[in-house]
Amino acid sequence: MILILLGPPGAGKGTQAKEIARKRRLVQLSTGDMLRAAIAAGSPVGLQAKAVMATGGLVADEIVIQIIADRIEQPDCANGFILDGFPRTLAQAAALDAMLRARKLELAAVVEMKVDDEVLIDRVAGRFTCANKACGEGYHDRHKPTAKPGVCDVCGGTAFTRRPDDNAETMRTRLTAYYKETSPLIGYYFAKGLLQSIDAMAGIEDVTRSIDKLLGKPAAKATSVRTVTKRAQSAR
Ligand code: AP5
Repeated sequence: MILILLGPPGAGKGTQAKEIARKRRLVQLSTGDMLRAAIAAGSPVGLQAKAVMATGGLVADEIVIQIIADRIEQPDCANGFILDGFPRTLAQAAALDAMLRARKLELAAVVEMKVDDEVLIDRVAGRFTCANKACGEGYHDRHKPTAKPGVCDVCGGTAFTRRPDDNAETMRTRLTAYYKETSPLIGYYFAKGLLQSIDAMAGIEDVTRSIDKLLGKPAAKATSVRTVTKRAQSAR
């Protein structure tokens, strides 16, 4: 199964992608995480991406397209993957179509996560993440605190990080980039009969339930998701 989670910064894409990946044995492919890893490693890609990400703009299409093209070749992606933060422009969406076509793969669904802007700002302002690279579990000061203060629920780690771009000024640029460059993808995937929109204003577990409902049981095959998508759209 190949899924796209589409939504503005802070919509909960990463939170839900981790949960879906765990349940359905898929790989979460977050271009944001991959770019942050490249910055931490000081690689040429990281050096190019660092300044752009700090301002909240979008990294060049050719860089992120190449990252995804290389990543989906890895054996762990053979069972399917969830794209979290990619594609973000029409050029990236067209490149993804070509990549999948060349590999005879199909998108099962594109889940649009709808959240009001004020809520997005609150979500990113309270976000923190387990600093253990092998874990990276995401939390929120109020909406998803650790069960035991200062200890990661998943790996027991005690170090956490906050993202430098999670501030009000950068968030404004990130939201503008979303509305200008990424929101046209809603129409793009609707026209392909792949779009499913969910209310992601609800609590984390309720949003997970909405996604589970639209995707069907974890064992469901990609073809059955397409059937669900088409049925839902023809019922509109
Ligand atoms: P990226 O890392 O992708 O950031 P983003 O899209 O801005 O999304 P976020 O990670 O901020 O939010 P999310 O939707 O994953 O929310 P989360 O689950 O963490 O990209 C960063 C930068 O990299 C970009 O600005 C760009 O420069 C560059 N980049 C990346 N991909 C690119 C691409 N394809 N092309 C070009 N440039 C690219 O949740 C947020 C918080 O809310 C958490 O604390 C969570 O616990 C909490 N939360 C989640 N769901 C709920 C809920 N339902 N109720 C209450 N709280 C919730």
